[in-house]
Amino acid sequence: AVAMIDLNSGTSIPQLGLGVWQAENDETEHAVAHALDAAGYRHIDTAAAYGNEEGVGRGIAASGVAREDVFLTTKLWNADQGYESAIAACDTSLGKLGVDYVDLYLVHWPLLDSDRMKRTWEAMEAIAESGKAKAIGVCNFEPHHLDTICGHGETVPAVDQVELHPHLPQNDLRAFAVDREIAVESWSPLGGTSNSGWGRASKPNTLLDDPILASIGEKYGKSIAQVIIRWHLSNGLIVIPKSVHEERISQNIDVFDFDLDADDILEISRLADPGGRVGAHPDEMNIGAPE
Ligand code: A2P
Repeated sequence: AVAMIDLNSGTSIPQLGLGVWQAENDETEHAVAHALDAAGYRHIDTAAAYGNEEGVGRGIAASGVAREDVFLTTKLWNADQGYESAIAACDTSLGKLGVDYVDLYLVHWPLLDSDRMKRTWEAMEAIAESGKAKAIGVCNFEPHHLDTICGHGETVPAVDQVELHPHLPQNDLRAFAVDREIAVESWSPLGGTSNSGWGRASKPNTLLDDPILASIGEKYGKSIAQVIIRWHLSNGLIVIPKSVHEERISQNIDVFDFDLDADDILEISRLADPGGRVGAHPDEMNIGAPE
């Protein structure tokens, strides 16, 4: 069964959830409903910028699973950073999702404007205080960004959600996060999509064809995707593989009847690649930031 990971907010998060980036509202609704009612997921990760919060809300409603049994994450888009704008954006997201709180509200990207980022974080603290988010955190923050927003007694983000997979294991960031009691969540955990996103081209996914991962999977009768998800779990990471296909959604949570051994872990560690990033680097993602 999916483990719960304790967050520094005092709440806890199911270690495995469903990601929905680049899914339209209707396919999102269908994927979320399948994940919750058939596959047994209890954690959904979306963002205002994905344009599918309404689909997520409809999927939760259609699943028949009670709101309080679902861990729901959404994210604040760059254009809404700042104090008043962040508070308003949270309300807009809650409206689209059709809920009165989220379990986790994340700042989607760091900005070049660190003063604005600090005001955003004050708004995030107020949002947590008001109960509209049970926990608050960030995405794509490097250690220096974290120092900018929580260096002076401010709330420490509960999580940092970053691109992370065997080609980009983010060892330095993970060590920093452990030190600060920040949980790390892996986005593009399976190596991402080959579609472009955020106005830039992503690198093609080569992880899902990797022969080493395939041979590890053969030993256990598991797919490459299942081996990768097991790797995230064994590393204590929170993992949110994306799929809109029922069979894959079910397959991606069917990872609790096998485990990787020390040799597998060693072989996977050799896949780390200095050029392994597939998505945007935080420094390139000031897109839409207010003037
Ligand atoms: P799809 O939604 O068409 O299934 P990531 O989670 O790393 O961002 O990337 C997931 C990508 O891999 C998506 O494009 C998804 O596409 C695909 N995918 C998800 N689960 C599986 C799986 N079990 N086997 C193969 N491909 C998968």
